[in-house]
Amino acid sequence: MEGQVENEILKLKKQKNAVILAHYYASEDVQRIADYVGDSFYLAKIAKKSTADIIVFCGVSFMGESAKILNPDKKVLMPDPTADCPMAHMVAEGKIERMRAEYDDIAVVCYINSTAELKSKSDVCVTSSNAVSIVKALPNKNIFFIPDKNLGSFVAKMVPDKNIILNDGCCPIHVNISAEELREEKEKHKSALVLSHPECDESVLALSDYIGSTADIILYAASSNADEFIICTEDGVVYKLEYDNPEKKFYFPKTRPCCSDMKLNTLENILYVLKTEENEVKLNDILMEKALTPLNRMLELAR
Ligand code: 13P
Ligand code: SF4
Repeated sequence: MEGQVENEILKLKKQKNAVILAHYYASEDVQRIADYVGDSFYLAKIAKKSTADIIVFCGVSFMGESAKILNPDKKVLMPDPTADCPMAHMVAEGKIERMRAEYDDIAVVCYINSTAELKSKSDVCVTSSNAVSIVKALPNKNIFFIPDKNLGSFVAKMVPDKNIILNDGCCPIHVNISAEELREEKEKHKSALVLSHPECDESVLALSDYIGSTADIILYAASSNADEFIICTEDGVVYKLEYDNPEKKFYFPKTRPCCSDMKLNTLENILYVLKTEENEVKLNDILMEKALTPLNRMLELAR
């Protein structure tokens, strides 16, 4: 039955000149059918240069919105329109305006995990792959980093000459990874290296051997001489990790991190949106124009 759904997806994709993009946190069957799988930065770049008429985005709403903002003339479809990232909304009303009033030279640096509305009020977007290099490249001394306090404080450590003002937002999945459970896992696998996403709490990052985006974690595991790793990020990455490194072992802390929003993308709803072209990402033109500037600035600065 599953093979039949896959065949129908492939047929419709070709007929409609559609492309399927999936984040590494999507489930294995979704990653297998996708044309491109990657982290947020890679997928934003792919969306920007796509020549397809339809982009099916197997991620969460901020990713679909970014694809639409970068391609206003294309149809961007979300397999499940309710797949959202809670952190994307975590900036208090009026906070950006208050920060701008307080500091003359402030740059509002907006993690791509944010609503189009927040992007539209920001100076530059970043992803976990490029946040450190982009903040370093900015001329501003004062940086208001939204919405993730953990990625923000990681950037602050890596760029100590800037005044990074943190915002009280975080990813509920990554902050749920506990240092205690990580220690227990390290006890069980004494030679394993710990690879963590910067959205984790600093108590977890302090126990880590490497900190990077999902794509960076995957690259690190492939190029490392070690053969055992404890992974502190969402468990969808294990598909690519095991695929690339069949001889290596990957473990997770006992409470396996799983983003239920990312897992809302299924083969069945990919097929549904390809058939019906429902769940299209629609944004107001003025908002899109305003949110495009910080996204384009990110793509330029990260080049
Ligand atoms: P990446 O920037 O590694 O793709 O991570 C996105 C994300 O949602 C992390 O929780
Ligand atoms: Fe958002 Fe966290 Fe899910 Fe990433 S893992 S999409 S940051 S809730």
